[in-house]
Amino acid sequence: MKSLTLTMPLDMHVHLRDGDMLNIVAPLTSYSFSGALVMPNLVPPLTTLEGIKEYRHRIKVAMEADDFEPYMTLFYQNYTREFLESVQNHITAIKIYPSGATTNSEGGVVSFDIEPMRETLEAMSDLGIILAVHGETNGFVMDREAEFMSVYEKLAINFPRLKIIMEHITTAAAVEMLDKYENLYATITVHHLMITLDDVAGGMLRPHLFCKPIAKRPEDRSALLKVALEAHPKVMFGSDSAPHPKHTKESCGCGAGVFTAPIALQLLCEVFDAHKKLDNLQAFVSDNAQRIYGICPDFKEVVLIKHDFVVPEMYGEVVPMMAGETLKWSIERVE
Ligand code: NCD
Ligand code: ZN
Repeated sequence: MKSLTLTMPLDMHVHLRDGDMLNIVAPLTSYSFSGALVMPNLVPPLTTLEGIKEYRHRIKVAMEADDFEPYMTLFYQNYTREFLESVQNHITAIKIYPSGATTNSEGGVVSFDIEPMRETLEAMSDLGIILAVHGETNGFVMDREAEFMSVYEKLAINFPRLKIIMEHITTAAAVEMLDKYENLYATITVHHLMITLDDVAGGMLRPHLFCKPIAKRPEDRSALLKVALEAHPKVMFGSDSAPHPKHTKESCGCGAGVFTAPIALQLLCEVFDAHKKLDNLQAFVSDNAQRIYGICPDFKEVVLIKHDFVVPEMYGEVVPMMAGETLKWSIERVE
């Protein structure tokens, strides 16, 4: 039977939430992955050193495994250099959200004018703290990411020593930026490699595929697939697995977020296998992230086999992407 061994898989963008939800989802991520970049959009968002330390502790307790590293992020505000010095050993990146762009982002920035942010971003450049960006404007929903490219450009030029990660890119426009600016990198989700807007809203509405940024056009998906499948050195896997309780997804006013944590590696195998690029998956799902972020996770091996896996209907109160469907790959063992 066809199999693939991945060493130290990393999910460089995940929402683990808190409380009961954390207890449901953290063990699923820590089973498949060696580490994950944990998003700070809690309610209220993570903006203090105490908050980061306490949240990391709650994650460690919830995940039921010792061989998993939660790479912590701080929610962007204008911070002083002194504060950043005090947190730098406790965080891997700072995540910036435009206010209101997505779930729990109300405390984000209202403007990307450079001058008010200069002190913070200069200090981050000096200290080597990475900036992870939710890149969407408040324009027409299909154009929000493409419109944000001018902001990425401005940030990349004004702060050439700052490593900037374009999170969960969904457009050909974002892919083009990778080769234009040395300090721009990107994460890509597995769902954006698979679906377009048609899958979300072309037929019956599929709330469990609704997320921000919304899935775009076939040509955008092709551009994402191209760089993911070749494991372009500036892209890495970030699931953006974002659990919401079933009743808030299957409701009037469905929250944005696709829950993929327990099926992410299996789906990645399916996508890379379909394109005969399984050899590049290790780089996409770990090596690139290790190099870009300068992280060294503890040793872990995940063995996947080409064997059917029926996705459970629910994990706790959360419906995963492809619930009830059969995937072509499954996880055989983790060592
Ligand atoms: C995320 C969430 O639910 O926290 N939702 C989403 O649609 N991706 C937030 C985010 O990353 O945009
Ligand atoms: Zn996210």
